[in-house]
Amino acid sequence: MTTLWHNATLATMADGAPGGIIERGALLVDRDRLGWVGPIGELPRELRLAATQEIDVGGALVTPGLIDCHTHLVYGGERAREFEMRLQGSSYEEIARAGGGIRATVAATRATDDDRLQALASGRLRTMMAEGVTTIEIKSGYGLTRNDEARMLRVARRLADSHAVGVRTTYLAAHALAPEYEDRGEDYVEAVCAWLAQLHAEGLVDAVDAFCDNIGFSLAQTRRVFEAACALRLPVKLHAEQFSNQGGAALAARFGALSCDHLEHLDAAGVRAMAAAGCVAVLLPGAYYFLRQTQLPPVRELRAAGVPIAIATDHNPGSSPVLSPLLMLNMACVLFGLTPWEALRGATAHAARALGLGSTHGVLATGKRADFVVWDAAHPSELAYYIGRNACRRRVHGGVEGKS
Ligand code: NIG
Ligand code: FE
Repeated sequence: MTTLWHNATLATMADGAPGGIIERGALLVDRDRLGWVGPIGELPRELRLAATQEIDVGGALVTPGLIDCHTHLVYGGERAREFEMRLQGSSYEEIARAGGGIRATVAATRATDDDRLQALASGRLRTMMAEGVTTIEIKSGYGLTRNDEARMLRVARRLADSHAVGVRTTYLAAHALAPEYEDRGEDYVEAVCAWLAQLHAEGLVDAVDAFCDNIGFSLAQTRRVFEAACALRLPVKLHAEQFSNQGGAALAARFGALSCDHLEHLDAAGVRAMAAAGCVAVLLPGAYYFLRQTQLPPVRELRAAGVPIAIATDHNPGSSPVLSPLLMLNMACVLFGLTPWEALRGATAHAARALGLGSTHGVLATGKRADFVVWDAAHPSELAYYIGRNACRRRVHGGVEGKS
């Protein structure tokens, strides 16, 4: 069955589209692919005749489905009490050093069974999907044992089976030092590398990440994790320069990283290294906001160097309990100075690149996946403009509408 969606204001997010918008646009959906994209007046007659169904969207804005390229969606518990502590003056780092933070969520996640983890993550995922998310990245990193990391990744894979959404899994055992390895950081990194090979053999891992910071892992430890990933031909990404400048982005760039994420403390050398490597900068305004950070990521420098900028929620219970990708578009503009167009590109085409999906996802073009959203909006700027208004009217994943 081929369906012709027409009378759309198309923001294709593809390079070279004039002004980026196609008025009276049409999408021909052939199973899970876009068979044709363009102004309806240019649609070849035989293609129109071949369509078995036509849907008139009445001039509404149509964009690629949103891609949330950085989340920690699977976990147990919450950290609202820590939020209160931070409001009273404790810092994220202090709480982490005192054994709270990530480690608190590790304890809660280990104590939560698989079905409950799945149900909790499913609720979060549905909220995201209702705002137009069609692909999501989900990291491990709250298990910190071989079995608990595997559980998280299996839950993430199962979410893809039970929801109309694409899921990419990222192995993040190098998120915090497991309590069993207190004062034995090197041994823990060795274990992280050994588990990676096993979990990869089970088909659970699409990419490998680490938290390189003064409250995370050192540059040398991060390098060891990356070497293990490279030996398995797995792509890497990095939580880099969030609280301090460790040179993590330059290291990640040397390993051909898909992305470096956070980047508030990125320096000029890091920007140059990322530009040379074609590495995506994933900016996370939710974490910046929620932790009341004051150091802004170097957006002008990234832009000037031609580094693609992506935007994500970083959903997690500690630094970014955010389930609204649309709010991230707004914050990317208001807090980081992106244009609404850049922010939307960041949550579509550039987010796809950050997941290694740049050739198939994130733009509306012939041959790409039929993942798109029809919005109650006339122009892309409206998506970043409203706060708390979900303009997602129809969501199509792999050519199929509406299921969650
Ligand atoms: O992306 N910075 C490290 N990891 C997460 C926070 C995880 C947590 O606090 O539970 C982040 O901000
Ligand atoms: Fe994160």
